Amino acid sequence: MGAAQPLQIPDKSQAAVAMAGPSQLLFRGHLNPEGYGFPLIRKPFQLPAPVDQVSEFLEGLSEESLVLEDRWQDGEMGHGQDSTFSDPSGGELAVQWPLPPAQPITTERRLRLGVMASGSGSNFEALVQACQTGHLSAEVELLIVNNPNAGALERAKRLGIPSLVLDHRLYGSRQELDQALVARFKAAQVDLVVMAGWMRIVTDTLIQAYPERLINIHPSLLPSFRGAKAIRQALEAGVTLTGCTAHLVELEVDSGQVLVQAAVPVLTGDSEESLSERIHRQEHRILPLSVQIAAKRIGLLDQG
Ligand code: GRF
Repeated sequence: MGAAQPLQIPDKSQAAVAMAGPSQLLFRGHLNPEGYGFPLIRKPFQLPAPVDQVSEFLEGLSEESLVLEDRWQDGEMGHGQDSTFSDPSGGELAVQWPLPPAQPITTERRLRLGVMASGSGSNFEALVQACQTGHLSAEVELLIVNNPNAGALERAKRLGIPSLVLDHRLYGSRQELDQALVARFKAAQVDLVVMAGWMRIVTDTLIQAYPERLINIHPSLLPSFRGAKAIRQALEAGVTLTGCTAHLVELEVDSGQVLVQAAVPVLTGDSEESLSERIHRQEHRILPLSVQIAAKRIGLLDQG
C-alpha cells in the first residue's frame, strides 16, 4: 500500500466523503439508511488509504464537517471492492454532502415563492420551514392545489400561508388550468414556482411564464424512473440505489436541468412505503437547496 495522499477537498464545508480512483474507499453495508448524500458531481478526489488513515482524516475535519461523522456511525467502513455496495458511477463519482448553512442566510433579498401541490404537502411544508428558519432566503407567498382534498391545504392553514384550490376538473384543458395558475402566481408576484408533488402534466403556458424558474421534485435519480410510479419502478427493477431529484421543468415530463439530487439506498425488505419515507426525508433537504441554486443561477440571489 503506497503512502496516503492528502485529501484535496475543494470546499471543506461542502465535502465530507468521496469515492474516486482505483483505490476506492467504499462503505460496507449501508452507510446511513437515510441516504448517501447529494451526488453533486464536482471534481472527483481521492480518499486516503488504507482505511485507518481515514480516521485521522476525519479527526482533521472542520467542526461543520464533523457533524457528518455522527451519520457514519451506523455504517462500517471497508476498503476495496464490496459486492453489497453499488456505486452507480463506477468509481468516478464524488459524493458530497452539502450541509445546510451553519447560520441562517442574511441577505436583503427574499425570494417570493409560489408552490403547487396535489397531495400531502410535506415538501411544501419543508420549504416553508426552510424559509422560517432562514436557511432559505424566501417566503412562500401562495400555495395552489388542484385537489380540494389535498393534505397540503391543511398544512397551509396551520402555517398561515395563503392557499387556493384550482380544481383541474373545472378546466377545459391543461392550458386553461395553467393559464389560471399563471394568473394567480403573477398576481402574487412570485419569482419562482415550485411543483412540490404536482400530479398534473404542465404545458408551455406555465413553463414559458417562468423560464428557468419552475422547479419540480421527483422521487428517483433522474433520468431513471420517470413518471408517477417512480418508487415502485425502482423496487421492481431491483436497483440498490435510488433517490430524488430537484430539477427545472421542461415540456417532456421529468426532464430538464438537474439542480440537486440525493441518493437513497434500497434496503432489503423495503416496501414502497418504507422507501418512500426515506426518499421524502431527502426531498425535504434538497428542495429548499434547489430553490437557492435556481435563484443563484439566474442572479436572483447573490452567488456567495
Ligand atoms: C414527492 O415524493 C415528490 O417527489 C412527488 O410527489 C411526492 C409529493 O409528496 N412528485 P408530498 O405531497 O410533498 O408529501
